[in-house]
Amino acid sequence: MTYIAKQADSRGVVHYTEEENHTWEILIKRQLNIVENRACRDFMDGLERLALPLNHVPQIPQINQTLEHYTGWNVVPVSAVIPLTTFFTLLSERKFPAATFIRTQEELDFLKEPDIFHEYFGHCPLLTHQAYADFMYWYGTTALKADKKTRQLLGRLFWFTIEFGLIAENNALKIYGGGLLSSKEETIYALESPIPKRLAFNIEQALRTPYRYDEIQTLYYSIQSMDDLYHIMDSDILQLAHHALSQGDIEPGFVIC
Ligand code: CO
Repeated sequence: MTYIAKQADSRGVVHYTEEENHTWEILIKRQLNIVENRACRDFMDGLERLALPLNHVPQIPQINQTLEHYTGWNVVPVSAVIPLTTFFTLLSERKFPAATFIRTQEELDFLKEPDIFHEYFGHCPLLTHQAYADFMYWYGTTALKADKKTRQLLGRLFWFTIEFGLIAENNALKIYGGGLLSSKEETIYALESPIPKRLAFNIEQALRTPYRYDEIQTLYYSIQSMDDLYHIMDSDILQLAHHALSQGDIEPGFVIC
């Protein structure tokens, strides 16, 4: 399935069909049950702040009212695929790019490209949280300064935190990664399956760990608190990435094809 982002009108409103609104309704009602007791506290608080509608796709102006109030962020609509430099530039302006299409009901459970459900449900709740929002901004500004090889390693950092990160909360693992929280299957798998490894997050190790974007993960890194994101921001990341490049990749538990 090839998806095309939908254009917003002059008021910033995107017109979704009845079927698309229904797809949103199926996805959000189902996922709200699944993330309960699996998502971290800050994510659940963010969901409450956003108060996403249940029966239709949310509109960007409403989401932005909340994001602006808490962290000064904005969602901006983009076409499905944008160049990496544009992505980093937007993050460095505290703008979160979101392609405004929603998956079809045939692809309800598995989707390669991030759709609006992933962006709004998976990421926007924590964009109301200061450490997460600051990390996104830091990531954009840092990646803009990095060369191509270093960017690839920074991409791993993003992957193992923002997209697939776990967090220890009252001695239990919870989820803060948006790639997980917007996936019915992987939200449960990440915490409950005996298959994947779950390791304490370590910057240099994460930089050296390759990942597959098209498969369920075999390894997750867990942080101790959202403030750990500030430790990453405070590190000399370009130096660490340079060192990680010289050390080579860590065997991630799968063969890269
Ligand atoms: Co994402």
